[in-house]
Amino acid sequence: MTPILNTPAWKHAERHAHGLRDVHLRDLFAHDPTRFQRLAVRWNDWLLDLSKQRITPDTLPLLAGLWEAADVPGWIAKMRAGEPINHTEGRAVLHIALRHAGSPIQVDGHDVMPDVQAVLARMRAFCAAVHSGQWRGATGEPITDVVNIGIGGSDLGPRMATQALAAFRVPHLRVHYVANLDGADLATTLAGLNPRNTLFIIASKTFTTQETMQNACSARHWLAGALGDAAVARHFVAVSTALDKVAAFGIDPDNAFAFWDWVGGRFSLWSAIGLPLALAIGFDKFEQLLAGAHAMDEHFFSAPPLENLPALLALIELWNADFVGLQTRAVLPYSQSLGLLPRYLQQLEMESLGKQIDRAGKPVGCPTLPILWGEPGTNGQHAFYQLLHQGGRALSCEFIACRTPDYPLAGHHEKLLANCFAQSAALMKGKTEAEALAELQAAHAPAPDFLAPYKIFPGNQPSTTLLLPRLDPHTLGALIALYEHKVFTLGVLWHLDAFDQWGVEYGKQIANSLLPMLEGEAPVAGVDSSTAGLIAAVRS
Ligand code: F6P
Repeated sequence: MTPILNTPAWKHAERHAHGLRDVHLRDLFAHDPTRFQRLAVRWNDWLLDLSKQRITPDTLPLLAGLWEAADVPGWIAKMRAGEPINHTEGRAVLHIALRHAGSPIQVDGHDVMPDVQAVLARMRAFCAAVHSGQWRGATGEPITDVVNIGIGGSDLGPRMATQALAAFRVPHLRVHYVANLDGADLATTLAGLNPRNTLFIIASKTFTTQETMQNACSARHWLAGALGDAAVARHFVAVSTALDKVAAFGIDPDNAFAFWDWVGGRFSLWSAIGLPLALAIGFDKFEQLLAGAHAMDEHFFSAPPLENLPALLALIELWNADFVGLQTRAVLPYSQSLGLLPRYLQQLEMESLGKQIDRAGKPVGCPTLPILWGEPGTNGQHAFYQLLHQGGRALSCEFIACRTPDYPLAGHHEKLLANCFAQSAALMKGKTEAEALAELQAAHAPAPDFLAPYKIFPGNQPSTTLLLPRLDPHTLGALIALYEHKVFTLGVLWHLDAFDQWGVEYGKQIANSLLPMLEGEAPVAGVDSSTAGLIAAVRS
């Protein structure tokens, strides 16, 4: 296959980018009053505004040439057919099956849909039992608190969605999340809980992850210390692909919820990894989340690239990374409920695409995913937006807002949206020195010439705005699937395996070798002087 950098589509895009190098966004808007109409894309009642990106109406058709050149439709077909497109791990990539209904989806000649449906049915029954009080703790008391112990993909998705959908949560049940190996995470969570009313979900695809296993052991110790070993069966359930390890840990296999190695950790919210979320919002709402994701799947599989939201997000990311030269992207939800979305996307996007070696084992040859970070607006405005406006660094911003609020407090939502739209406008157009001076003079400010340079805003900072109708389970499901398919598309465009994560292994490997040295069970040897010095400082 021809590397994407050598395709005519890439060369066309390169020439086009060269022609736009010195163009300012404010001029693009000034010269084309129809710019928004031409560069905003709608899907159902969603609106994706790309008009503040550094593109012209010619750019997207050129970039769509890359979609064809990389054969994204062919890769979609491979994914849907259950081919092992996670090629370094030899696995199929079928999180779409988890929100699919009906027709068979095969992996190695086996239809996985009955397995998926069976686990969903068990999750539904379990949620009903906990909510109704039929599932009780060892002392016969109902469950009031659920603690999910997991990390990475076994934590971030359900945690983010539980916060995002807090407006829909069932009464009388609190759901907590513990991830960090630092004992402070578990200790502070347990401090407010009563073991008699607490249910733990141990969520780990592999059931070997150090953080999760340590937290699970400490939680079991806490519970058994209060209620005895026999109580563990009524207070611990597990979600894993490794049911033998679940049993070895001491959790009743009847209380284990399976998933499969064709579900990547960071794509696993839709599987039984979503159990804490389903408990938090109820299984009917969890099904609405799945339906929303499925609707986005159908859109991604069928819409042409210029009307296809995941494709457009992917093409714009590639454009910014490889043709505009931007190295970071800020995700800025103007929604308190989506406050954890940037953190969730950090794993989804950076663990998937933070790579440089392609499927042929060769360097990709161009920058891949920019660094992703972010915070909800308006809080970020009072923290780091100063740098976005005047820090002299070009970056791309992604604003996400909802037309209607999930908590309709009078006077809040219009102000929130006004701030969101104002920020993208300010970043786009900037303010010239002449404008700054004129403003100061009109306001009869003292020393306008002195102050004017500080009031210059270079502008030309590109941004995307995604306007959602409202934040509900269906919309959230579609939103997450939108980013999953964006990741898939970029993986194809850069010819990367977006589904492995070898980069997380090395640090773990070294940590395992340092642990006996820190515990004093092995001599401090074979390490650099900094590491040896740090270990010595702790041990002294
Ligand atoms: O960070 C590496 C990773 O393997 C992630 O991909 C995964 O989501 C996380 O660790 C947790 O893994 P597990 O679910 O197996 O505990």
